[in-house]
Amino acid sequence: MTATHPALADPAVEHALRQAAALMRRSLHAVALVGAGLSAESGIPTYRGAGGVYERFGEPTIDGWELFTHDPAEWWRQAIAHETAGSPFSEAIERAAPNAGHYAMADLEQMGRLAHVITQNIDNLHAVAGSRRVTEIHGNRYKVRCIECGARERLETVNLDRLPPSCPVCGGLYKNDVVMFGEPIPRDALEECYRQALAADLFLTVGTSAVVYPAADFPVLAKRRGAPLIEINPEETALTEISDVVIRAPAGVALPALVDLLLVP
Ligand code: APR
Repeated sequence: MTATHPALADPAVEHALRQAAALMRRSLHAVALVGAGLSAESGIPTYRGAGGVYERFGEPTIDGWELFTHDPAEWWRQAIAHETAGSPFSEAIERAAPNAGHYAMADLEQMGRLAHVITQNIDNLHAVAGSRRVTEIHGNRYKVRCIECGARERLETVNLDRLPPSCPVCGGLYKNDVVMFGEPIPRDALEECYRQALAADLFLTVGTSAVVYPAADFPVLAKRRGAPLIEINPEETALTEISDVVIRAPAGVALPALVDLLLVP
């Protein structure tokens, strides 16, 4: 394995990568839980930790869902005004392109080594990189979702002249697909996540602090059912203690290295 990144020169990282590759070779249904750390190398700040969104711009309000259910037209007016005004975070997402980590995950899916990705990211970069079997548990910022029937549509195709916009399928209210604090996780996404956690014979956590629920439940559920856990993160997380393999390297470095190892017959 050529050390193209200082992290790969670390014998402990190289050893962990080889252990992870061996587990992935034996796995028939590997599932990954992904967090903001995967998109960090695409220029999108993570939420927690030094220099994170919360440190720089403060914690998000937790009454967004309440406002939406109370006055959806007003919620939409504020959301559009916020988007029009722009913010460093939304501009970073708008500018972002997939990095080597996103492409490596798409490659692992293509190679039949990764059965499903549960992402907490709202940036759509998995889809842009070519991943197909992805559940966006916290939604997608480029989509709207009907809060009645759950139908999703691309935001750019929705007429916002009359607010709140409504669903052409059932007449229900559309909101942005991003799940707000206090808002229930959409049933279809939640059911798929539990299905995948129960089906997993190997579970990877990639770039997540694993402190937000129910997302942080899935690796624990899979572990309890006997699936080994692989953690890819430059720092310790809430799951380090129960992880079988820990790869202390950036995702954009570790994931392509895993693909390289798995390409060796
Ligand atoms: N590669 C891999 N991991 C990285 C990298 C990198 N290049 N850079 C940072 N990390 C790790 C950090 O060490 C941290 O553990 O990514 C993690 C990011 O953690 P959080 O900021 O807490 O993000 P996340 O786990 O995705 O948060 C979950 O919380 O705020 C809500 O809805 C939001 O989806 C989000 C959820």
